Amino acid sequence: MTADPRTLTIGIPAACRNGERRVALVPDVIRRLVAAGVEVLVQPGAGAGALIDDRRFTDAGATLSDDAWGAAVVVTIAPPSGEEIARLAPNAVLVGFLAPLTATDTLALLRQRGVTAFAMESIPRISRAQAMDALSSQASLSGYKAVIEAAEHATRLLPMMTTAAGTIPPARVLVLGAGVAGLQALATARRLGARTTGYDVRPEAAEQVRSVGAEWLELGIQAAGEGGYARELTDVERDRQQQALSDAIARFDIVITTALVPGRPAPRLVTADAVAQMASGSVVVDLAGETGGNCELTQPGETVVRRSVTIVSPLNLPATVPEHASQLYARNVQALLELIIARDGEGRPRLALDLSDEILAAACVVRGAALQQPPAPTTAEARAEALH
Ligand code: NAI
Repeated sequence: MTADPRTLTIGIPAACRNGERRVALVPDVIRRLVAAGVEVLVQPGAGAGALIDDRRFTDAGATLSDDAWGAAVVVTIAPPSGEEIARLAPNAVLVGFLAPLTATDTLALLRQRGVTAFAMESIPRISRAQAMDALSSQASLSGYKAVIEAAEHATRLLPMMTTAAGTIPPARVLVLGAGVAGLQALATARRLGARTTGYDVRPEAAEQVRSVGAEWLELGIQAAGEGGYARELTDVERDRQQQALSDAIARFDIVITTALVPGRPAPRLVTADAVAQMASGSVVVDLAGETGGNCELTQPGETVVRRSVTIVSPLNLPATVPEHASQLYARNVQALLELIIARDGEGRPRLALDLSDEILAAACVVRGAALQQPPAPTTAEARAEALH
């Protein structure tokens, strides 16, 4: 680590669980941080999954270190384990996907340790925070990959094909949940030539579905919740929805489900009965496997076949495109770092955690020792410029 204790350090540990192949910062972003006077500590091999070798990190100005967890600011992708939390400095700042609504044990350990934690998924969906919206950047990749998975497993083609041997009609694709992943899935399926239909419980999604060339499936159930998210349906609404969807689903070759409600188990949209009514060779791709799945037959992380219908539940799809996923995530993190780093009187970058900023207040899921430090004597402009 640096000889000058006043130098701000940012640590990038290697992600090593659950087939994670992404790395939290990429050389392009590190180059900017280093140029601004930050010391970036990268654990050797941290970029291996994304095919970024150590040399590219050092060429960008990073230092290889086995103590990336000991930096002042540590950036990860997934919530850290107990062992990793024990390696954080007691006044450290942690940034990453921290699952704040469900990983309560992790948050308790971070709190005990004195760490200040910013959860990427708690950044509000407001326009000023768009550049930091890692949920969106990663969900877009999942939506794209879901269609590729579906095409891989289907026994039929997606595009219409006219040949001397006859004409094959385009596949009919239904996407349930038209948030970021769902809209990307609709757009991707259409680009592959499918006829697309989208459905959501947020009424404003109808226009967005149509804007990507898809039809809107209207079931008459509306469940807009807070912050732009959906709310959980009542039991009566859920039964009505499942019935109406079961009738609709039988008409489709591919069903891609992306429905989530923050902090709750995934809503059950596709029943076993609905799957039974699908034609042989059809495919369900369930993107909600991590929170239990939208399909009753889903086995998270597995591919199951029931009555010749394949139900696929891929987990962590962004990690299957680690190069672009890391690049986008790193840019999201960079935008957040710009909000928490300012220059001190001598022009050196330092932490400036101002929780009167609505983005930081919402994203800060554990308030620790770093917040006790005196506020930086800098303006918002100085903060915005600190990393440029
Ligand atoms: P999400 O990942 O939380 O959920 C996916 C989709 O599932 C959502 O569209 C949700 O309405 C839907 N859903 C939930 N329960 C359902 C049910 N029972 N049946 C059918 N569909 C159901 O959503 P995501 O993609 O994170 O988007 C959340 C919100 O954030 C949306 O309103 C989106 O437009 C908004 N957003 C705003 C941005 C901004 O910068 N202003 C950027 C990105 C998203």
